[in-house]
Amino acid sequence: MPVHTRSRPMLWIKALHIVFVVTWFAGLFYLPRLFIYHAESDNAAVRAQLQVMQRRLLGITHIGGALALTFGIWTLILVPSYLHQGWLHAKLALVLGLVAYHAYLAHLVKQFGEDRNTRSSRWLRVFNEVPALFLIAIVLLVVLKPT
Ligand code: HEM
Repeated sequence: MPVHTRSRPMLWIKALHIVFVVTWFAGLFYLPRLFIYHAESDNAAVRAQLQVMQRRLLGITHIGGALALTFGIWTLILVPSYLHQGWLHAKLALVLGLVAYHAYLAHLVKQFGEDRNTRSSRWLRVFNEVPALFLIAIVLLVVLKPT
């Protein structure tokens, strides 16, 4: 049975989708910052504290990401006609990029957890900007729906 996109349940699902997108991005934005502080610190106690913060923030980031994707996919199940729209295809391609970025963050948490970082703080600063580009592109796609 087709579901109207402005029905109550759809609006609840969309609201929760946005809440968990924000939660996900808190981690995508802040984990690389913690890596920069870690790479620049020569104080063992500070690095140990940062390792704890990285592990905990990664946990929250996993939960935010999993629920953002769950509510996004749920929307598609209820309104499959979105699947015929070009902006959604472009968005899903960008989401795959974000998932790859997230997986790489998890890899870096493991490396920093063992104090085996190989990246310069300059590299990490550039890497830190990547999720902002994804966020801008995805929000423009979902709001403007250019295709
Ligand atoms: C598997 C991943 C995802 C799927 C399947 C998905 C799917 C959807 C769908 C079908 C809508 C409804 C569009 C509309 O009502 O016009 C939507 C809304 C939205 N999505 Fe996603 N999404 C996903 C991930 C993301 C991510 C990663 C972001 C942010 C970076 C995001 C941001 C938004 C926003 C801001 C809206 C609200 C748009 C509006 O109300 O006009 N989504 N999503």
